Amino acid sequence: MDSILNSKWTKMVLFLVCLIPAGLLIRGAIIGDLGSNPTQFLEHATGDWVLRFLALTLAITPLRKLLKLPQLIRYRRMLGLFAFFYAFCHFSIYLGLDQMLDFHGVWADVMKRRYITAGFTGFVMMIPLAVTSTAGWIRRMGGKRWQILHRAIYISAVAGVVHYYWLVKSGVHIPLEYAGVMAVLLGWRAVAWATDPKRRIAALAPKTRPELS
Ligand code: HEM
Repeated sequence: MDSILNSKWTKMVLFLVCLIPAGLLIRGAIIGDLGSNPTQFLEHATGDWVLRFLALTLAITPLRKLLKLPQLIRYRRMLGLFAFFYAFCHFSIYLGLDQMLDFHGVWADVMKRRYITAGFTGFVMMIPLAVTSTAGWIRRMGGKRWQILHRAIYISAVAGVVHYYWLVKSGVHIPLEYAGVMAVLLGWRAVAWATDPKRRIAALAPKTRPELS
């Protein structure tokens, strides 16, 4: 297992697998196989993939701890960047095909329609994470500050689910399924944080005050 997870080939294969949804959508667009409303089809398909990749990214930490596979961390950045890639495609399709590059119209939508506000918030929160995803940025920011910034992915995940829940007219069961998955992934972190022995020891330790001379 170790050699598979550490292999650069596994990473390369995963990279290609993550591109399959985009490839299938491009193929569908070329051969005209995107249904009667291709723009809506593309919006829906890319939106679904954003949520799936956000969930996969958030699943890495619990999985590596529960399965005792620390090497899984090698895949987290790639999955997070794919979440951003599909979010960028999703937003670009909305901006370019749905709104015909009408920036004023888009801004009016962001301000007026609550599901667009939520989606836009989720997308905007992902931008600094994608920009600072390199080793250089981790070094420049310092691990602690970088980690704090990257917790913004929790906001993107919640905003994405709220966006989906608000946009569906009927049949909220799929957004609720995503909500359940995100609740488990975020809840696991909350429990791990609350029960972290290091944090509890630090909280119990007597506060040392400098001696007055
Ligand atoms: C974290 C960011 C986002 C996530 C996770 C997300 C997710 C989704 C999902 C899951 C869907 C529905 C897919 C389906 O029905 O199967 C969707 C649809 C849609 N999203 Fe997003 N989205 C995000 C950001 C945005 C942004 C920034 C915009 C535009 C400003 C946007 C505009 C739309 C539109 C127009 C639809 C189609 C609505 C309709 O049914 O007519 N989304 N999105």
